[in-house]
Amino acid sequence: MDILRIRGGNKLAGEVEVSGSKNAALPQFAAALLSDQETILENVPDLSDIRFMAEIISHLGADISKIGPSSWKIHPLKIHPDPPYELVRKMRASICLLGPLVARVKRAKVPMPGGCVIGHRPIDLHLHALKEMGAEISLNQGIVEVDGSAMKAGNLFIGGRHGSTVTGTANAIMAAVLTPGITTLDGAACEPEIVDLCCMLKKMGAKISGAGSHLLSIEGVDQLNGCVHRVIPDRIEAATYMIGAAMTRGKIVLKGIEASHLGAFSKVMRESGVLLNNSQKGNLDVQTDPSGLSPFEIITLPYPGFPTDLQAQACALACTIPGLSILTERVYPSRFMHIPELLRMGATVSLEGANAIIKGGKKLNGAPVMASDLRASAALILAGLAAEGETWVHRIYHLDRGYEFMDEKLRKLGAEVERLPESSLPPAFRRPTD
Ligand code: EPZ
Repeated sequence: MDILRIRGGNKLAGEVEVSGSKNAALPQFAAALLSDQETILENVPDLSDIRFMAEIISHLGADISKIGPSSWKIHPLKIHPDPPYELVRKMRASICLLGPLVARVKRAKVPMPGGCVIGHRPIDLHLHALKEMGAEISLNQGIVEVDGSAMKAGNLFIGGRHGSTVTGTANAIMAAVLTPGITTLDGAACEPEIVDLCCMLKKMGAKISGAGSHLLSIEGVDQLNGCVHRVIPDRIEAATYMIGAAMTRGKIVLKGIEASHLGAFSKVMRESGVLLNNSQKGNLDVQTDPSGLSPFEIITLPYPGFPTDLQAQACALACTIPGLSILTERVYPSRFMHIPELLRMGATVSLEGANAIIKGGKKLNGAPVMASDLRASAALILAGLAAEGETWVHRIYHLDRGYEFMDEKLRKLGAEVERLPESSLPPAFRRPTD
């Protein structure tokens, strides 16, 4: 397992290319299964989660291959509804296969997703949507079996206690596009990734209205065609680099960003003193107010609220800003695995339930830290950039799931970041739990 060694203190400066969105591409790989024709997806990031999804789709019988650095061809001429248990168990996003399989081959068998460090991640809303459309659902030995042979259009409410569900909405849409009649989905997610999925499905011949709102209307069609679709830029990756620039008080240009996808995030950054300027279409200049940054308060919410996927990174930023910042996690209330690691770096944070109260301003010190999930990994790397001395981030396989070439991109921005084999870790840094 590799580690990252970071020497803190450099200001980030220069240009960084935003990659395609992981959370848009994953459901779109699944959506390609809705047609027996060939689909080409472009601007797909080179990530382990993407390769994993491709392996699962190949096991389902589709012909799938990478035809360029960020392009994939998927030709699901004939598929079966039984993805490999061991693979599906390891990646929650594979739940997005449910809708397309039920729609295309009228059956699906997927394992209940396993536990997740960021918190409880049930799929009750996914199954509720399918049941409301007439699917028969059973659970045997941890395997969810869905019979969609008698599915029909319906008027559904698919929201839950924590608000809308992103992949739950994706599954409901993909089940409805081939179900005869008009299905309405109220309480739907309106994330840019859902809008992009609808854009791809419409290219395939689907009839969807209301994308980007909480009320979708879908008229089922007999069949869908293949298409060529370019995945939207990754708003979470882009925002992660914006936070890195703010934490090091640097100045960067994000290239290939869709600034309109940033929602509440850009409002919070601007109010704290991060200067954002759309210098030209698709680019965003990021620097910080010379008079310094102000502490902030955020509550994570479904889009266009502050994204939960940026909460850990925002915690790291708050550590560098004098004053008290308060971060409340409403989507995954226990998503604070990064806090103990930030404390190892000298941060002053107190956790009160789903609230992190951060007293920022004291310089962070480099330390050996452990990544626990994708976004916590990014937060710890950013903290290392702003810290004094060396930070060693273990278990960065989490990072490779969702950030394309992050160490390379950071080096290009002037950071001292090196990817090393774990054996190069000084003995003193070997954590007892390693
Ligand atoms: C998507 O996960 C993203 N993943 C997550 O990103 C992201 O954190 C999350 O949306 C919220 O924005 C992908 O798109 C692949 P949800 P998803 O269903 O769809 C509850 C990352 O770091 N809920 O929108 O699984 C759930 O517990 C990952 O890139 C139910 O109660 O999330 C949560 O509190 C992590 N029942 C809330 O809804 C359900 O059936 C939002 O979850 C489904 C969800």
